Amino acid sequence: MIETRKFGVTKNGAEVLCFTLKNEKIAVEILNYGGVIRALYTPGKQGLCDVVLGYDTLAEYEENDGYLGAVIGRVANRIRDGKMTVDGKEYQLAQNDRTRTLHGGKEGFDRKIWSYALEDDTLILRYFSPHMEENFPGNLMAEARYSLNDNALVLEYTACADAKTPINLTNHSYFNLGGEGSGTVLNHRLRLLSDRYTAIDGDMLPVSLEPVEGTPFDFRQGKRIGEDIDADFPQLRLGHGYDHNYCLDSQDKVSLFASVYCPETGILLDAYTDLPGVQFYSGNFLDQNGKRSHYGKRSGFCLETQFYPDSVNHPEFPSPFFNDGEVYESTTIYRFSVSSGFAEDSRKEIKD
Ligand code: BGC
Repeated sequence: MIETRKFGVTKNGAEVLCFTLKNEKIAVEILNYGGVIRALYTPGKQGLCDVVLGYDTLAEYEENDGYLGAVIGRVANRIRDGKMTVDGKEYQLAQNDRTRTLHGGKEGFDRKIWSYALEDDTLILRYFSPHMEENFPGNLMAEARYSLNDNALVLEYTACADAKTPINLTNHSYFNLGGEGSGTVLNHRLRLLSDRYTAIDGDMLPVSLEPVEGTPFDFRQGKRIGEDIDADFPQLRLGHGYDHNYCLDSQDKVSLFASVYCPETGILLDAYTDLPGVQFYSGNFLDQNGKRSHYGKRSGFCLETQFYPDSVNHPEFPSPFFNDGEVYESTTIYRFSVSSGFAEDSRKEIKD
């Protein structure tokens, strides 16, 4: 079931709607401003919890820059010096993060009004990004589909352009499985099924692939997010905590890559994707007022499924470039349950 209500009016006078997707297990609120996931209600041991960070008003979405719950595009994550070369031609993209391009540039897909359609119980948002928007070549049509499958939120993206261009879409939800505004996520247990991550330099750009083995980056067996976050380890200092891309082995199949468990509420999140990477971001720069309270440092974590950061400049990474007419497609699923820990059977691959 999908309910529609007015959410607000932008500074430029555009009306924004809020769509609530609901079944007997979970309810999710989505805005056609930035494709934002504004709220996600799922049962915990003591009752329903809203497990994503967000704001009460549209003005706060327009004013703040934490990308709370938004779709990121055309290219998620950082691009060195905002530069890329496509078929021998160099492009200077919009630089919005000192010299870098971050999350699509000065006005990424997270700040756009998307058109919408409802198809049965699926919400479809569409955004047309014109040629040279933020200096990316090619007219591009992006589509984000939101649906519920039992206790899971299913996010499906497609995009296609009329010239070769990079496409790297993600959703930037910050989760707090103790309920948004309930404090930090340092006590959450994270299991991240990844052997390697992209180590960064002082500009938070990838320089090499490193094994997680024997480092604070090893979450393969599951441990508290806060367990090693303040360890004296150079990569943690550079990221101000975890703010790194982990390499995934999904090989284009929608596969489980992470589970996160909150002992206080018993809420377990299992996350699946067919993409080759995920940015695990421990909310190190959070500092803003949210729905229930102030969101301080580490009061939410993100699992942003993606192509690797700066992959436009790393031919050795999986390629984010799509040719004229070639279709970008990806699926990411966040599944919620109440549990007493990680469910061993959740490791199996799922297809919706
Ligand atoms: C990045 C962070 C950044 C945050 C919000 C994340 O995807 O990895 O470095 O601060 O987005 O801007």
